[in-house]
Amino acid sequence: MTRNSVAEHTSIHGLWATRSIFILAATGSAIGLGSIWKFPYITGMHGGGAFVLVYLACVLLVGVPVMMAEILMGRRGRASPVNAMQKLVQESAVSRRWVLIGWLGTVAAFLILSFYAMIAGWALDYTVLSAQGAFDGISAAGTLAAFAELKLSPYTMLLWHSVFMVMTIYVVARGVQNGLARAVRWLMPLLFLLLFVLLGYAFTTGHFMQGVHFLFDVDFSQFGRDTFLVALGQVFFTLSLGMASMMAYGAYMPQQQSIAQSAVIIVMLDTIFSLIAGLMIFPIVFSWGLEPAQGPGLMFVTLPLAFGNLPFGVLFGTLFFALVVVAAWLSAIALAEPFVAWAVEKGMRRPTAAALVGVASWALGIFSILSFNTLSGDEFRIYGKTFYEAIDFLSSNILLPIGGILIAVFVGWTMKETKVMKELAIKNQVLYIAWRIAIRVVAPLAILAVFLDFFGVFGA
Ligand code: TRP
Repeated sequence: MTRNSVAEHTSIHGLWATRSIFILAATGSAIGLGSIWKFPYITGMHGGGAFVLVYLACVLLVGVPVMMAEILMGRRGRASPVNAMQKLVQESAVSRRWVLIGWLGTVAAFLILSFYAMIAGWALDYTVLSAQGAFDGISAAGTLAAFAELKLSPYTMLLWHSVFMVMTIYVVARGVQNGLARAVRWLMPLLFLLLFVLLGYAFTTGHFMQGVHFLFDVDFSQFGRDTFLVALGQVFFTLSLGMASMMAYGAYMPQQQSIAQSAVIIVMLDTIFSLIAGLMIFPIVFSWGLEPAQGPGLMFVTLPLAFGNLPFGVLFGTLFFALVVVAAWLSAIALAEPFVAWAVEKGMRRPTAAALVGVASWALGIFSILSFNTLSGDEFRIYGKTFYEAIDFLSSNILLPIGGILIAVFVGWTMKETKVMKELAIKNQVLYIAWRIAIRVVAPLAILAVFLDFFGVFGA
């Protein structure tokens, strides 16, 4: 093999040793707070089955095609998102401005990491509190007070935020083979094991079918204008799309592996996980007569109450929050990787790069922490949003859809089709054409419509 052909089929960071490791790593990135925390609460807020239906349609029509596009860009580029884009624009001889996609994604992932660590820190705190029996026999007023107290305790939040960030950076610092792949190999089986144990537990609450009806009975009167917006936003967030993370992981993907098949498996696993998370949470919510449309507090307020008053609640409550921590950990690793990989390509040692990215993101996260207490006043708000809300909004609702559209347009219209076809290697013509239409037309238009509607372009 010549030196050149070696360079083409690997990255300086190494590769995932096997096909299943790539799939597990990408699935680990996808499954996170988005599936366990966000999916159930927004489903609860948007009426259950009707929302789930729209969500599934968005997964299929936009999620799968964009996931394929991102993985293919990463693997073709074989480098961090920024440098992968450099290579792709050269190869297709198009404007260097497209490298913006790489930067946008890298920055969005970095921003998300800053508050992701904070929320994962809450879950760490709740794991420890559950294990200590702090929620045993707790009252509704008690869990509300506990959550309120956490938000008013910057030092407690800072402690767990820091612990979580160290856990994340430790893995990233050890590199693709010794860090990322190893974490994935151990934690993914654990994640699914925990999920099934908890699902079994939900069966025993006696309200399982109520949860099933809530998730799968479609009530058309529940369709609202914002259903599509929220569903599509959730699809991007939960599948880790639009922000270069899938590109970063795709860069380490073995050359012979099928991109389409992998994307379908990753999306299916994430979707199944989200649905099971719902099936696990709603029966507990109903058995306790709680309000499904709680909002973000659903997980942190209602579940300790439920677990605290169910048999074996200390054990299962602890397992539940541990599940959240593990899922968030694998996602956080993927959020840090694009920036770290870029710095390593600039000549930095990986541990140094990981530490720098970690410290910067950690420091930014402190402002999110303070935005719940010290800096919650009106004078610290940005367009009425606290710092945390503003960063979440900027990354999830603005950078992410913009990234998504640019990715779809780049792969669909700008990249040379011969290169795209070579990388995808889809033999079935019908499938290829379906994907091509989805990535050229359906995905960009859907994202654009949702994005513009959000800013009131089509009237109130
Ligand atoms: N998908 C993750 C979740 O569901 C969150 C996330 C969004 C993410 N974008 C990402 C994770 C990019 C890794 C990389 O919680």
